[in-house]
Amino acid sequence: MLPLLLFLLAAAAASGPAAAQGLPPLPIGVNYGANADNLPSPAAVATFLATKTTVNRVKLFDANPAFLDAFAANAPAISIAVSIPNSALPAFADRAAGLDAARGWVRDNLAAHVAAGANVTLLLAGNEILGPTVVPDLVVALLPAMRRLHQALQLEGLPQVRVTTPHYLGILAPSDGIPSNARFRPGLDAKVLAPMLRFHNDTGSPLMVNAYPYFSYNAQNLNYAVFRPNAGVYDPATKLNYTSMFDAQMDAIYTAMKKLGFGDVQIAVGEAGWPTQAEPGQVGVGPEEARDFNAGMIRVCSGGKGTPLMPGKTFETYIFSLFDENQKPGPIAERNFGIFNPDFTPKYDLGLLRDGSSASASPNPSPNPSPKPSPNPSPSGGGKWCVAKAGADATTLQNNINYACGFVDCKPIQSGGGCFDPNNVQSHASFVMNTYYQANGRHDSDCDFKGTGMVISKDPSYGGCKYVS
Ligand SMILES: *[C@@H]1O[C@H](CO)[C@@H](O)[C@H](O)[C@H]1NC(C)=O
Ligand SMILES: *[C@@H]1O[C@H](CO)[C@@H](O)[C@H](O)[C@H]1NC(C)=O
Ligand SMILES: *[C@@H]1O[C@H](CO)[C@@H](O)[C@H](O)[C@H]1NC(C)=O
Repeated sequence: MLPLLLFLLAAAAASGPAAAQGLPPLPIGVNYGANADNLPSPAAVATFLATKTTVNRVKLFDANPAFLDAFAANAPAISIAVSIPNSALPAFADRAAGLDAARGWVRDNLAAHVAAGANVTLLLAGNEILGPTVVPDLVVALLPAMRRLHQALQLEGLPQVRVTTPHYLGILAPSDGIPSNARFRPGLDAKVLAPMLRFHNDTGSPLMVNAYPYFSYNAQNLNYAVFRPNAGVYDPATKLNYTSMFDAQMDAIYTAMKKLGFGDVQIAVGEAGWPTQAEPGQVGVGPEEARDFNAGMIRVCSGGKGTPLMPGKTFETYIFSLFDENQKPGPIAERNFGIFNPDFTPKYDLGLLRDGSSASASPNPSPNPSPKPSPNPSPSGGGKWCVAKAGADATTLQNNINYACGFVDCKPIQSGGGCFDPNNVQSHASFVMNTYYQANGRHDSDCDFKGTGMVISKDPSYGGCKYVS
């Protein structure tokens, strides 16, 4: 039943109101790191996010008072996740003095800013304490520190602030990538994660993971990693097909939690992203891949799509990252995960700008046209459709697919979808170019696609493949 239901949901999403509005204004969080020497002031950033974008959460890597004040003064509706450095945790874990230390930290670092209007809703105890780099004293301190911080927040009058900690995906045991085979690493499962999940379940806070298909893809499975059409990965135990690695990672976490008896705990995504630049010659890195990954991930986390095992769920998610951070050490990619330039133009179009904000000032890798949210979409049944011209260049058509699938639902052209057959680029491109054209208000210019599209007046639907109109 479930696969069929999922298929029906996907089909409904493709033709329903969400698709008809073009880019639905989806809320999403961003990581706001500032390891850079070229970024605007925190006040300018807070104002930009609050007034020009659909971003509704930020995650900070510390409790910098200048940042908290900037959001208090300029963006009280944006909720904030504040991080505590790893090194501070042992003091909170101390059995005798830990609670006082935690109360002191909350008073010194949060209370005044929250009173001034900073909408802090999440407190992150350290970052990736369980690995890849493991310091045994910190592992031992983590959960006791989280408990004391939770208690301290209640006692200091900030019960709206939940406590969690971001994990790397290596808390899962190595596996074949089939979600139903997932479990937490032996040694962490019963000892560390089961009591932590009980804490989350008791306090209503989410388990937070940093989910990076970027660190697991290769040239062969790139389409699977960046939400482009692909054959998918079949999970024989659940009989579900996975067409995105991110979905599979989320369902692996869910499966592992369920095996410990905590399938009801919420999952939050602390970081997920894709860089626009990496070492020379690395396949699969660039603005188009970054856009395809982030757009697909936003649809899953904020769009009500959910995952195969968690259909319809939404996940509190923070894109990594708001800006490139030019002072970060390490590989080139580390400095190139940003979604906005320092002048607030988008590095590529993710549909995060509110109506009326210009999205076109940056070098936009996508083919013309850039999406124009239509204020007055004409009622359906316009009697016009957009299709790929016969004999159009296949590479351009594939680029059209990649581009349009960043904005519209492409499930119908994926394996199992009603428009998968005939399985060729001409047919797939026609379907998504039309969906895009309809979603953007049916302007001829929205069917140009570098000269590869044409408007027709005969409904191109066939068999089980219903073109949006
Ligand atoms: C603070 O954030 C929460 C959660 O995102 C939201 O529900 C609430 O409305 C925000 N508060 C204000 C004052 O906007
Ligand atoms: C999780 O919390 C709910 C109540 O909020 C409770 O009914 C349930 O038993 C808890 N689950 C576990 C595994 O403790
Ligand atoms: C998933 O894919 C497998 C192998 O390609 C296929 O046998 C199966 O029918 C598909 N299942 C669903 C639910 O689409």
